[in-house]
Amino acid sequence: MFEFLTQSNEEDAIGILKNDHNKVKDLFDNFEKADNLRAKKKIVADVIKELKIHASIEEEIFYAAVRPQIDKKIMNEADEEHHVAKLLIAELEVMDGTEDHYDAKFKVLSENIRHHIREEENDMLPKARALDMDMDALGKHMLIRKELLLKRGVATFAEEKMVAASKGKGDSPAKNAHIFKAKNPVKKSAKVLKMPKAAKSTARKIVKSAKKNTIKLVKASSKAGKNATARMAKMNKISALKHKTVRSKR
Ligand SMILES: [Fe+2]
Repeated sequence: MFEFLTQSNEEDAIGILKNDHNKVKDLFDNFEKADNLRAKKKIVADVIKELKIHASIEEEIFYAAVRPQIDKKIMNEADEEHHVAKLLIAELEVMDGTEDHYDAKFKVLSENIRHHIREEENDMLPKARALDMDMDALGKHMLIRKELLLKRGVATFAEEKMVAASKGKGDSPAKNAHIFKAKNPVKKSAKVLKMPKAAKSTARKIVKSAKKNTIKLVKASSKAGKNATARMAKMNKISALKHKTVRSKR
């Protein structure tokens, strides 16, 4: 009944976008099967070329045309997914494939794009198809622009400038962020462990009072000891005297 909402003519705007989607999805599958760096690098280069042109015609022509009539939430999410993809593309472009995170970065790019394609094809494109808009005319415009971009190349993205400014810290962002924030973690933890002034003064008072108490205890026990010795001596003396008296009486 509503087949017209999903039908696609390969030459109209929605058909062109879907063809591009299928092409990159095939390339992502090929990367999974690739078993050497040369093959992987070729696939990465092809994906980057496809995505850059696709994102350009989509943003410049398709999004610009449908945005005023489609939910803001859907369009804003699509913009953000393009932004994340462009950042990863920019980082992959400056890598030579030997880096620790090369495969992981491409994998995350493919996951982000597959998710983006699903959202476009299940939500945005059917809504666009339902609009009173000439998708054939829009498609022709997109194809002309695509031809031009293939010949002249795509203008530098803002994300490429951001990555260039990070000066090669894109391989492992988390690891590099850690190194950047705590250049000397050992010194830093030593500083954290250092006792604050107030705690130091309390600790000094406790030690001083403990010393005082110990001295008192020693003195007390020594006095008690002396007294006991004196008492013993006195008792011995008395007992000796008694003993002497008994003997003299005999
Ligand atoms: Fe898109």
